[in-house]
Amino acid sequence: MSDLVIYFSRSGENYFGGELKNIEKGNTEVIAEYIQQETGADLFKVEAAVDYPEDYMKCIDIAKKELESDARPEIKQSLESIDEYDTIYIGFPNWWGTLPMPMFTQLEKLDFTGKIVKPFVTHEGSGFGKSNNDLKKLCEGAEIKKGLSIPGANVYEVQQTVVSWIND
Ligand SMILES: Cc1cc2nc3c(=O)[nH]c(=O)nc-3n(C[C@H](O)[C@H](O)[C@H](O)COP(=O)(O)O)c2cc1C
Repeated sequence: MSDLVIYFSRSGENYFGGELKNIEKGNTEVIAEYIQQETGADLFKVEAAVDYPEDYMKCIDIAKKELESDARPEIKQSLESIDEYDTIYIGFPNWWGTLPMPMFTQLEKLDFTGKIVKPFVTHEGSGFGKSNNDLKKLCEGAEIKKGLSIPGANVYEVQQTVVSWIND
């Protein structure tokens, strides 16, 4: 059976150690691609039906409201089954201490019974935050392995770290 990476990642304006920069590829996507290179995993990107603003401050605001209202934003495409996979990598940026809400929309549709889940997060200082707790609920029935936490600013320097974690 093969591996799958389910991830969310946002390009556009982002904050790097006190500076706003525009990035063409989101940080989490960089890590997802390292995993694909190492394992041959399929990639599934979760995207909100309505794109988040490129403007960082506007995005922060919308994301906060979605978290506070426990929203389940619609997604462009949803994955209906993970039956053909045994190991599922779940990657996301830390948004206000947990996963972006579109990941809740997607993960709640899936049956994780008997699966192995390897979570990874990119962040600006808070690591996994409270997402570990949320992941436990979202992936009920899975064995959740030790996660990998990478500061967003370092994603281009950590390929070896990612490979070691995969094979751990
Ligand atoms: C809406 C939003 C909320 C964020 N909240 C946090 C946070 O609470 N803690 C943190 O460390 N970083 C936070 N960040 C920073 C991101 O987690 C970090 O830049 C991440 O690497 C972005 O990944 P991406 O480029 O794959 O979307 C936030 C970023 C955004 C856009």
